Amino acid sequence: MKLPSSPGPIGVFDSGYGGLTILHGIRQLMPEYDYIYLGDNARAPYGTRSFDVVYKFTRQAVIKLFEEGCQLVILGCNTASAKALRTIQQKDLPELDPKRRVLGVIRPTAEIIGKLTRNNHVGLLGTEGTVKSHSYDMEIAKLWPDIKVSGVACPFWVPLIEYNEADSPGADYFVKKRIDELMRQDPDIDTIILGCTHYPLLMPKILKYVKPGVRIVPQGEYVAESLKDYLHRHGDMDARCTKGGTCRYLTTENPDKFKESARIFLKEDVLVSHIDLGEC
Ligand code: DGL
Repeated sequence: MKLPSSPGPIGVFDSGYGGLTILHGIRQLMPEYDYIYLGDNARAPYGTRSFDVVYKFTRQAVIKLFEEGCQLVILGCNTASAKALRTIQQKDLPELDPKRRVLGVIRPTAEIIGKLTRNNHVGLLGTEGTVKSHSYDMEIAKLWPDIKVSGVACPFWVPLIEYNEADSPGADYFVKKRIDELMRQDPDIDTIILGCTHYPLLMPKILKYVKPGVRIVPQGEYVAESLKDYLHRHGDMDARCTKGGTCRYLTTENPDKFKESARIFLKEDVLVSHIDLGEC
């Protein structure tokens, strides 16, 4: 496969709209770079899909972003970070192009969490794939061995967001149910990781059902800080990322549908093109 070697935009990938919360955090901090966002909306959600399928879909998306000229791709999706990142880094990158990089969202969140919890009782809300992979538990244990992590999967939360029902009264039932379940696992939790990039869109409902004083941690800001630090430490990669302040959007779904939903996330009109990644 012949991939372009010239500098290009930073790629941000998610199964659907959730990664827009990560892109938003990154663009707030580093507006000068060019970006391409790829949402695999036609095949979302990924959360209940098997390891092999998430890996296959994520690999297709990463290759697409490489073909679009990205030298650096952020998996703005916890499920893809949990199930596909390591294999892509260790097996695919050396074959595709050892100079390119693919980074995820779990490590930056694990790095910050020990500084945010006051009592070392941390909760994790994520997709079934992310929670069952135990990726957070393992990353956090490496950095902060005293932290106890309790996790609950929230299977209906992503569809609520993808189908624009995040503000509906029906969403209250599902949000309360999972938060109650998490707090039953460990009533001392003082910090909750929103371990799915979609979940910040449910923030008003989440805040309604957590105990006062419990800190909710969305990831966008921390992933952005970590990326900034990464580019600062890796000047060679920084030089391979173009800086024109632009952002393009690719979706495997209908572009008009994407535009409509992206407006809710980003509050701006965006330029969207359709792409095909493969079969559902
Ligand atoms: N937003 C993604 C995540 O962070 C994936 C949600 C899904 O597709 O199930 O896990």
